[in-house]
Amino acid sequence: MKIAVYPGSFDPITLGHLNIIKRAAVCFDRLVVCVMVNSGKDGGLFTPDERVELIHRVVDRLPNVEVDRSSGLLSDYCRRRKACAVVKGLRAVSDYEKEVQMALINRKLNPRLETMFLPSSAKYTYLSSSVVKEMAFYGSDLSDFVPREIIGDVNEKMRQRREG
Ligand code: PNS
Repeated sequence: MKIAVYPGSFDPITLGHLNIIKRAAVCFDRLVVCVMVNSGKDGGLFTPDERVELIHRVVDRLPNVEVDRSSGLLSDYCRRRKACAVVKGLRAVSDYEKEVQMALINRKLNPRLETMFLPSSAKYTYLSSSVVKEMAFYGSDLSDFVPREIIGDVNEKMRQRREG
């Protein structure tokens, strides 16, 4: 059974992430979407458990997609899950340098682990969770950015943040 892990902060999951999930899911027997800690990003809009819940709702109908979270190293997580590959989406050349460095570190830590890059669909190259948060902060329509199942959650969370 070929298992791949799609790791990320997913704060929150975007339509760009969902596009990568759907395309990767057809390449592997099982795809584990794993909410992980990016030590370079602090705080966050949603807690890790909330992010998992939102992803669950969005991937509900994809039978070979699982959702999990981990606060450890990606390479350790993949070893534990017997995953052969990490899936990453590449939006622009600016993603490339950082992602290749991560791929090499992960392979050094776990020599059996390959990283597979999927080019982001052209219509999502501009999209990131940060853009979503910025749009939500200003009350923009989010329907081009996040799956419709979670639009209300993002707006509500941002409202709480603005008022709190
Ligand atoms: O969506 P992001 O924030 O770009 O995802 C980055 C993430 C969470 C995949 C990355 O920071 C990560 O792999 N974190 C787990 C810790 C780890 O293994 N770091 C790389 C080796 S030092």
